[in-house]
Amino acid sequence: MPINFDTVPNRRIPGDVKWTSYPKDVLPMWVADMDFPAPKPILDALRKAVSQGVLGYQMPSKELYGTVAARMDRLYKWKIKPEMVTAVTGIVSGFNIAARAFCTPRKGILVQTPVYNEFLAVKNNVGIPQIDIPLLKSVEGNILRYEIDWDLFEKRAKKASIFLLCNPHNPLGIIFSRKELTRLAEICIRNDVLIVSDEIHSELLLDDTKFTPMAKLSSEIAKHTITLISPSKTFNVPGLFCGFAIIPDPDLREKYVKTVARLRIHVASLGLVAARAAFSGQCDGWLKDLRGYLTENRNFLLSYVTEYMPEVRTTIPQATYLGWLDFTSTAIQGSAFEFFREKAKVALSEGRIFGQEGEGHVRINFGTTRKILEQGLDRMRTALNKI
Ligand SMILES: Cc1ncc(COP(=O)(O)O)c(C=O)c1O
Repeated sequence: MPINFDTVPNRRIPGDVKWTSYPKDVLPMWVADMDFPAPKPILDALRKAVSQGVLGYQMPSKELYGTVAARMDRLYKWKIKPEMVTAVTGIVSGFNIAARAFCTPRKGILVQTPVYNEFLAVKNNVGIPQIDIPLLKSVEGNILRYEIDWDLFEKRAKKASIFLLCNPHNPLGIIFSRKELTRLAEICIRNDVLIVSDEIHSELLLDDTKFTPMAKLSSEIAKHTITLISPSKTFNVPGLFCGFAIIPDPDLREKYVKTVARLRIHVASLGLVAARAAFSGQCDGWLKDLRGYLTENRNFLLSYVTEYMPEVRTTIPQATYLGWLDFTSTAIQGSAFEFFREKAKVALSEGRIFGQEGEGHVRINFGTTRKILEQGLDRMRTALNKI
């Protein structure tokens, strides 16, 4: 029986970030978690751990790291050893730890804007300059495309010590090709820039898209790359804060692990329990159905925008449950995010938080039921038509 993603539990419970940060009449389509319950094997594993009654300290076990390594082999034929894996309290911690451990004074951190807003906070957290390499935007009909500005990347890489790569890309939903990844990596290696590859969305593939981890491309690239993965987006357990850094190079790994130890980063026991179940393979049937549902939601969003809001431009995300809408050629004055929050009672993510290129854009979260998605879009369309 396919999983039913058409009904979801009530999330208006105290403390729920997505559903209680705005007044009750506002439909939340912002922060990146989904409205679906996590797959049963994860919930069963958590229930079992809780019913045992003792919730003491737990260490990430060798067996868990073996499960992560086995998943990389199964998904990508990427052969890593369990000892290359380190647990972290999520991916935001993971890349901040990397920046703390490896940034060089006076050298910067490369980011491809517009990009996940937490990437843009790293500079303040570690006190290094941020070097933007805006992705080049083009428009065909109402479809937005973004490409790498190679000349700029080449030029700016000289001034950097870390490249924070978002692949698949949030908020644009791009999966960079093997060719692009190889070229990016070659530039980084030539300029002695460490690659920190945030691959948190790598299993949320739409259609039958394929994904290749940056570090899988060659052993030379792997030596210069820290890969960050997590079950949190894929299996909708982000509140359990458990992710993994995969670091094949022993020297980089030693320094990273020492920084983790120095900062006293400890993953909560239930996060480890959930991660073991999530990466075991038991949830892959659920994930297949989820991808199908999200692909249909993405298609619904695209058709809706094309048919009912033709002046709005949209990306065609290849992964994630995040859409990116451009309102710069509509009659909206000022922030589209504020316009929709006030006039449509829909909370989206403000495009500006992803970098200045996000001005006039919003990110929409379609990781919800088709009914809620349609309701949100109907509200937006009505508000737009009233201008
Ligand atoms: C690209 C990216 N990295 C990291 C995160 C958050 O990771 P975590 O909650 O594990 O810190 C998100 C959440 O939206 C994301 O989109």
